[in-house]
Amino acid sequence: MASSTTVKIAEFRRLLSHAHSVLVLTGAGISAESGIPTFRGAGGLWRQFKATDLATQTAFARSPSLVWEFYHYRRELVRTKQPNKAHIALAKAEKRFEKEGKRFNVITQNVDGLHRRAGTKNLIEMHGNLFMVQCTLCQFIEENDSSPICESLRNRGSPDVNPPEIDEKDLPRCTKCKSLVRPHIVWFGEHIWDDVLEKIQKEIQLCDLFIVIGTSSVVYPAAGYASILAERNIPIAEVNIETTPSTSIATYHFHGPAAQIIPQLLSVNLNNE
Ligand code: APR
Ligand code: ZN
Repeated sequence: MASSTTVKIAEFRRLLSHAHSVLVLTGAGISAESGIPTFRGAGGLWRQFKATDLATQTAFARSPSLVWEFYHYRRELVRTKQPNKAHIALAKAEKRFEKEGKRFNVITQNVDGLHRRAGTKNLIEMHGNLFMVQCTLCQFIEENDSSPICESLRNRGSPDVNPPEIDEKDLPRCTKCKSLVRPHIVWFGEHIWDDVLEKIQKEIQLCDLFIVIGTSSVVYPAAGYASILAERNIPIAEVNIETTPSTSIATYHFHGPAAQIIPQLLSVNLNNE
């Protein structure tokens, strides 16, 4: 590793040891090494569609069958994947901070649930979670991690074929009123839920060190958090394999894969437990 990187890591660790309220923002890049494709990178297509064409209310209204096949595919894919060293290091750092009476919170744009599975407790899943559904009629929100989520989706969702539509009555239904449910995910063109935004506002207020990992920093509001914090002179560390719109305002840019860099930054030894 280049010595300038070693120096930057040492500097960052010094800041971390003095921080009282660390806030971490993660994006698809943190799960890339778990084998989950990012949105804007290679592998972001399903059938001929971009994720951004399917994760919308318009797409769901046009074809709930197609959109459910896409989400069923992603649910089943994520099930076969494991949290990587970056997720695990964050969960361990949270425990250490809590022991010291300090705050450590993770905001994720990811819907894959890997932070939860790694043991992160102070977690805001700002775009929702693949394993939660919401009723399109009574709005009831519930967890549903059945595999498959309904019989008609068994063996469906393949990225290579375009099978016939599934009848709406055979798609996932609400356990309360039996109406069609949708993934409890914030789609393009939708607003992030108010309670979630309030929690994020609070963390941004309290934050004295910000770490942004594996996000292209183009989707708002998350893309704007770094500049809000930079205006308050809060130190920012970015970890990414590319530069992003946040790079120029970050105090430190750590160039490389999250699973390799995050354990070093957080001084988490993953071998001795
Ligand atoms: N380590 C660190 N960063 C990585 C790695 C890795 N191993 N692999 C990829 N990256 C970086 C890429 O360089 C890119 O900047 O992760 C980022 C992934 O960007 P996107 O695919 O745009 O994902 P994200 O920023 O999370 O997207 C935000 O947009 O599609 C919507 O709602 C969806 O939550 C998503 C939001
Ligand atoms: Zn209902």
